[in-house]
Amino acid sequence: MTNGHENTDAESLPRVLVSPSAESWAEFAAEQVVDRVTQAIAARGRCLLVLAGGSTPESLYRRLAVADRDRVDWKRVDFFLGDERLVPHDDARSNDAMARRSLLDPLRISATQVHSVDTRGTAGEAAEAYRKMLESTVPGCTSVVPPRFDLLLLGLGSDGHIASLFPGKPALEAVSTWVAPSPPGELPPPVDRVTLTFPAINAARSVLMLVTGDSKAHVVARVLQERPAVRECPACGVKPTDGESVWILDPPAAAKLDQHRIKQ
Ligand code: 6PG
Repeated sequence: MTNGHENTDAESLPRVLVSPSAESWAEFAAEQVVDRVTQAIAARGRCLLVLAGGSTPESLYRRLAVADRDRVDWKRVDFFLGDERLVPHDDARSNDAMARRSLLDPLRISATQVHSVDTRGTAGEAAEAYRKMLESTVPGCTSVVPPRFDLLLLGLGSDGHIASLFPGKPALEAVSTWVAPSPPGELPPPVDRVTLTFPAINAARSVLMLVTGDSKAHVVARVLQERPAVRECPACGVKPTDGESVWILDPPAAAKLDQHRIKQ
């Protein structure tokens, strides 16, 4: 029985990058995204990219859609969502709506490249439909082989959740499915959700955790330095089995970290 803390061996800890300033975070994070997207396209002809929801990524997406639009062959990118709220796609709380507003529409991404969650039914129906889509769309993905995304973006909730994997909730335990329904967590919005599960997240080649702002400094230090159990702090469960995990922070979000945890 562990003492309720995750394995803290050095190789399982993520790499931590901090932008020079809060203002430069979007540009700093975009460099990391462009680098990995172009590497995937060069290696395999396409990039399977999972977008994070919430509010943090929006400035990054806008940067990619404007300043970096000509640096990537966006026709070779397939876009997925790491999680989605069960609201209509024109609802302000929709992750799909945020991604379209800030990235997909400005880049004029064709509908065939965007794999949205169908939010018209129940969370269980939406999760099942998304799982089936993944198994028919992602090369090598089957009912027993998880989807291997090239780049998977995540945000971090102040309670340590990622995607819609909330502390103490059943979706944390999923081991043989790639998408799960998820009831509302403690944080708003209090709506049902659909989320990728740890088997899908940890099969990715690269996971980037996007965190900004002083309101996240405590949870960043808790996850990276205290390493609580996954059931208390789901972000501790992000450990790609054959891939990298990199945290991309602005200085306020990194403010409570021991300096030796930060690599430039
Ligand atoms: C969601 C997100 C969620 C988000 C974190 C951070 O649907 O709510 O996917 O996991 O990334 O809650 O949200 P902020 O970026 O808004 O702080």
